[in-house]
Amino acid sequence: MAGAGGVSLLGFGPCGSHALAGTSFRHYPFDPVVPTNFRQKLFVPVAEGPFGVLDVVGPLALRASAASFTILHGRPSPFLLYQTELAGKAYQNPILRIESGARLAVRLDNALAEPTIIHWHGVDAPAAMDGHPSTAIATGGRYEYDFVVRNRGGTYWYHTHAHKLTSKQAYNGLASFFLVEDDDQRRLNKALDLQLGVTDLPLVIQDKQFDAQGRLRYRPNAQESMMGWLGDIVLANLTPNASLAVTPRTYRLRLLNGSNARIYRLAFVNGRARLNFTVIGTDGGLIERPESATEAFLSPGERLDVLLDAGQAKTGADIFLRSLAFDPMENEGAAEGMAAMAGMAGMAGMAGMAGMGAASGPAKGGAKDSMGSSRLPQGAEFNVLKLSVTAGARVVANLPATLSQVALIRSEGAIERKIDLSMDKMRFLINGRSFNMDEIAFEVKRGAVEVWRIANPAIGMPHPMHLHGFSFQVLERMGSPPWLAATARFSGGRTVVDLGWKDTVLVWPGETVRVAIDFAHDHPGSQTYVFHCHNLEHADAGMMINYRVQA
Ligand code: C2O
Ligand code: CU
Ligand code: CU
Repeated sequence: MAGAGGVSLLGFGPCGSHALAGTSFRHYPFDPVVPTNFRQKLFVPVAEGPFGVLDVVGPLALRASAASFTILHGRPSPFLLYQTELAGKAYQNPILRIESGARLAVRLDNALAEPTIIHWHGVDAPAAMDGHPSTAIATGGRYEYDFVVRNRGGTYWYHTHAHKLTSKQAYNGLASFFLVEDDDQRRLNKALDLQLGVTDLPLVIQDKQFDAQGRLRYRPNAQESMMGWLGDIVLANLTPNASLAVTPRTYRLRLLNGSNARIYRLAFVNGRARLNFTVIGTDGGLIERPESATEAFLSPGERLDVLLDAGQAKTGADIFLRSLAFDPMENEGAAEGMAAMAGMAGMAGMAGMAGMGAASGPAKGGAKDSMGSSRLPQGAEFNVLKLSVTAGARVVANLPATLSQVALIRSEGAIERKIDLSMDKMRFLINGRSFNMDEIAFEVKRGAVEVWRIANPAIGMPHPMHLHGFSFQVLERMGSPPWLAATARFSGGRTVVDLGWKDTVLVWPGETVRVAIDFAHDHPGSQTYVFHCHNLEHADAGMMINYRVQA
């Protein structure tokens, strides 16, 4: 059994010596800016082992445990994993696949040295089954989940949610996919002849730091706790510099941003040309019609389901899934915020924060300690995955004109609730509050439709705001930065990632995003859920509130 022994995801090819320490970023072997580095075979989930696809047809027992896992240099690194054995197979962080309407019965055992709990991200669960941080279990503890998964087919995920520990535990491994199947999903995959694990690929994108021994590093300083932890090695399915051979046909990529704080501006690039791709789904499953796009932002917690026709490029060509450069909008904003705060509160110890968010270059000035430890600033351009187009029959996909039905939430006349994001004393707040486990920020009426106006001040930074308990629909983006507004092709200033059912929405500085939520559900009694920023350092620092659905 895999147990606490070593789990190896990949046998690594040639990767030189561990040149991380003391070498310039542009030359260490996993520098994701250098296209020729992309030679590690992308890890693709199979039927068992790490990220094995596990069809949920009966009760499961997951163990949150420490294990070692091999990512870099073939060297084992301490990792946290959900482990299980079923029908003679061992799984680590299994990709759970379940039919819409089926029962999820999971026994979680905490074999960690600290509290933990599982949250089913985007899944409609009663509060007691949702992994609210107040339900975290201590070392040796057990939690029993048992509820019916009513979500539409789609790409969801599960991860740890123990308050103040979520960022560290998720970064160290406690997260995987939760795929819900339904007729829409089957119809699509049949029409396009897609097969999970072959041409339909769950792809989690993460950024991590490693030390000179190839071990995961997570040591946020004050500034990194405030802004969010960034890695400088970019992993696709835990593969750095990932590469996949493809044939000239259509692939489905179920993109998940599983990073703590990094935002990706994703595009497919062939040489200098940006390729078209097709967005077919967002957080809560398929959208109504396929939408063509050339780029999309993906913030922590969000999913984007896309089709890429690899036959757009010639045989022998390399297509890169790339994160394009963008203005992270945390430079002036945070600096001004800090200045305002220093002025107001007369805070001491501001000197070290002067370089905060100065993301214009990895080694600007000598302010190294006051800056992030990542050599890849937020907004930098880098590659995520190389797709090498190999010879094969050209298959041109016939996209269905309709993918699914998305019933619009009728929000005319709904009450509008103000959700104001702000910052005080180096912490980000929601409606002026920092998370208090026992405090309910507000109540909503069961069955009511509300419109939340999530407002981010111009002097802030981007926040991916995530709702537990319900999915929502994005109605409108107001005050968007001009470069974002330029990509808004849908009513209300929305971009392609705002379509369909959402549970996480990125709110840029200066923006007010209006979302419609229908608080109808069948879970009996009153239900307390959280609403929080999915920048995990922000959430752990208290950028989270409780809200209660009345009985
Ligand atoms: Cu994925 Cu409360 O989060
Ligand atoms: Cu969630
Ligand atoms: Cu945030």
